[in-house]
Order: sequence, then C-alpha cells, then structure tokens
Amino acid sequence: MGPPDKARAPKYDVPLVPGRAHVGIITRVTYLLAGTVVGIRKVEVDDVDELVRLARESVELHRRWATPPQTEQAWAAWFVTRDPQAWAGLVICEIAAGAIVGQVNVNNIVYAAFRSAALGYNVFASSARRGFMTQGLGQVIRYAFAEDGLALHRLEANIQPDNAASIALVKRLGFRLEGLSPDFLFLDGAWRDHERWAITSEMV
Ligand SMILES: CC(C)(COP(=O)(O)OP(=O)(O)OC[C@H]1O[C@@H](n2cnc3c(N)ncnc32)[C@H](O)[C@@H]1OP(=O)(O)O)[C@@H](O)C(=O)NCCC(=O)NCCS
Repeated sequence: MGPPDKARAPKYDVPLVPGRAHVGIITRVTYLLAGTVVGIRKVEVDDVDELVRLARESVELHRRWATPPQTEQAWAAWFVTRDPQAWAGLVICEIAAGAIVGQVNVNNIVYAAFRSAALGYNVFASSARRGFMTQGLGQVIRYAFAEDGLALHRLEANIQPDNAASIALVKRLGFRLEGLSPDFLFLDGAWRDHERWAITSEMV
C-alpha cells in the first residue's frame, strides 16, 4: 500500500445538484452526482467483468471486512436476489479513466417513519487510500438524502471496532457513534461485533 495522495480533492467535491444527471466529459458516462475526480452511478449487469477482475485483485484488502462476489456467476446470483425496493447498488468511478474504483450498496432501505438504510462499501485495491471513497461516499450521502434521490433521513454503517480505515472514513464524513451491536454479522468465519455509526440528513 503506497502513501496517501495528499493532492486529492476536498471531501465534498460535489458542486452539482443532487439527482440531476451529469456526463463525464471524456467517457460520456452519466452520473447521478459527480465532482471533478469521481462520480457515482448505478451498478449495471454490464459491469460484471470489471467487478470480478477488481474483486479478485482485492481479496487481501477485503478479506476480514467485506465479501464482494469473486465470479461472474456469483455476481449474477447476487444481482437477481437484490430487492429493488430495498436496495440501491452504486459504483464510484474515477471520471478521467471511466473506471470503477469502489462500490457502495445502500441496503435494507425502509421508508414510512424510518426512512433509513444500511451502507456496505469497499474500495478496490488499486484505488485504495487515494481519497476516492471519501469523495464517493460523500456523494452517496447527498444522493441518499436528496428528495429527488433516495429521500432517506438516516444512513448507518456497521463497522468492526478494529476496522480503522472504515472508522476513519465515516468519522471524516461526519457520522456519529450510536453504540455497539454484539455478534452482528457473520464474517471471515465468525459472528463479529460491530460499532453502529450513523448520519442523519440534519447532520450534513
Ligand atoms: C474502508 C475503505 C473503504 C476506505 O477506503 P480508502 O480508499 O482508504 O478511503 P479514502 O482514500 O477515501 O480515505 C483514506 C483515509 O482513510 C484512513 N485510512 C485508510 N486506510 C487506513 C488504515 N489501514 N488505517 C488507518 N486509517 C486508514 C486514513 O485516514 C486515510 O487518510 P490519509 O490517507 O490522509 O491517512 C477501504 O479500506 C476498504 O475497502 N476496506 C475493505 C472493505 C471494508 O472495510 N469495508 C467497510 C466495511 S464496514
């Protein structure tokens, strides 16, 4: 892992209006939100080859914390089991290259009086510690809270207490620690305690 890129753009590099489509100048990709460096868009079935390659490259980085599918078949199965009412699958792309650098799933979306969802996210290894996740997740937060986005009120991230990178990420984006959920997720062979970090629209 190389040193962090100190020349990266600020955390909320989003001078644009939530919910409006923006087109990358070079790649002509349409983003839900974009800054100068990264943009977010919905994940598509056509992304599978790229996602498989990236997930395989990132096994060591993800091993303890996240489980993106490693094969085309596993991705296909994953796509068809998503409930479109309760899930928004997003990718973070580096605009200049038009390449996927990370992934964010807005899971367990519940509306009515709750208007809340749970985030799952990961960077891919070749793009780690370049500030892409800070910027991209910042855009996801804006999209999730925008009335013409997902119109949510609260987002939570459940993080193992020793996942320093993930805790640093949500702290930087303004999440607050709500509490500890013991034996919360089965990961890397065991039920793992998770800290519950959350942000509401009033906090942005
Ligand atoms: C958590 C994760 C998405 C962060 O991605 P990232 O590429 O490091 O994010 P950014 O580049 O935007 O942020 C970098 C900052 O995060 C912090 N950070 C990153 N890696 C860190 C580490 N290993 N230890 C401590 N802090 C770390 C630093 O504060 C860093 O800032 P710095 O470069 O100025 O020191 C990434 O580490 C990842 O995908 N991990 C595996 C999957 C995972 O944990 N998902 C979340 C499950 S809750």
